Amino acid sequence: MSRKALIAANWKMYKTPAEAQAFVDAFLPRVAGHTRDEIALFPSPVLLPAVVPACKGSNVAVGAQNIHFAEEGAYTGETSIGQLKAVGGTHTLIGHSERRQYFAETDEIVNKKLHTALKHGIVPVVCIGEVLEEREAGKTASVLQTQVNGAFAGITPEAAKPIVIAYEPVWAIGTGRTATPEIAADAHRIIRAEVAKLLGVGVAAAMRILYGGSVKPENVKDLMAQEEIDGALVGGASLKPESFTAIVKY
Ligand code: 13P
Repeated sequence: MSRKALIAANWKMYKTPAEAQAFVDAFLPRVAGHTRDEIALFPSPVLLPAVVPACKGSNVAVGAQNIHFAEEGAYTGETSIGQLKAVGGTHTLIGHSERRQYFAETDEIVNKKLHTALKHGIVPVVCIGEVLEEREAGKTASVLQTQVNGAFAGITPEAAKPIVIAYEPVWAIGTGRTATPEIAADAHRIIRAEVAKLLGVGVAAAMRILYGGSVKPENVKDLMAQEEIDGALVGGASLKPESFTAIVKY
């Protein structure tokens, strides 16, 4: 089954609106006409009103790094799915390990957010991955299976079709320590098998599983050579138009 790759930039808490605009001005011409892969940018919410219009009509989609599961309400500091849609965002990350680690997001919260995104037609990129101690204790498979089951509770095979998963081993994020292509592909197989158990082999075979964690222009080609790896979620190396272009055009 051929799956169209998604190469995505997670800018985390970086860039001002002017810096984001400068990135887009430099980046769009470099990737114009690139149709082999889908491309998406995930800036901070305050940047969306600058980045979404700047990318309109291009081959680059724009999404949020996080949304709240409630439609609206007294949730100081949060962004609703309606707000994301109103500014033209089409995608959202859900359950990034930094959200889990620093903002106490659980699989249950991830599941609620996933339901909200699907209900509103926003493409969810659900992030999962083990921490170093779990890998060293031989618990990687069970951690990933638990995260998949938690995230996907109550999701039907029909509803699941837009979902993208990002496998981001926490020990590889921002550390310069990339999973080898083989380690990443092994984890992707575990994840896909769990999705197949829950939603059927057809849905699992069509679902894109991205790899994230110290993806760079130097290692992207070997990672993407793995049939199991359907794209990349890139942090640090997505902040400069030159390096993110090199990753997109691996
Ligand atoms: P780095 O590419 O900086 O390791 O970040 C990965 C990540 O967390 C993407 O979501």
